[in-house]
Amino acid sequence: MHYLVLNGPNLNLLGTREPAIYGSHTLADIEAACRAKAATLGATLDFAQSNHEGSLVDLLHDARGKADGVVLNAGAYTHTSVALRDAISAAELSVIELHLSNTHAREAFRHVSLIAPVCIGVIQGFGAAGYPLALDALHQYLGRT
Ligand code: DQA
Repeated sequence: MHYLVLNGPNLNLLGTREPAIYGSHTLADIEAACRAKAATLGATLDFAQSNHEGSLVDLLHDARGKADGVVLNAGAYTHTSVALRDAISAAELSVIELHLSNTHAREAFRHVSLIAPVCIGVIQGFGAAGYPLALDALHQYLGRT
């Protein structure tokens, strides 16, 4: 299996970005945890981050036919981007939506996800630990379909 872990805007600042909400792990820490998890699953991994909506669309297109599944933390684009939602549908990707924070416990504008309807499921509220959990979930999901 080959997986893509894709991160959207402002997630490059993890570690220093509002640590009370997002925790103290950096994106490099999260990448290391994802690579360790992928190794235990016998999977290979691409790990990427972009602050740009169109670049995220491109990365999803590139994953088509290459990645068996995707863990996507789309950041704020979760709540705004029809383009990302359409890219997930168009690329026919198996995607798990991920958030470090529990968006439902936050501002009302974070309660809506435009991408959730085209994702397998959502993991949120577990901080950095959510990433390896999502890879586990993706692996199990793909193993039984
Ligand atoms: C986030 C939640 C989003 O609402 C926010 O815009 C982010 C991070 C999270 O991981 O908790 O940038 O996706």
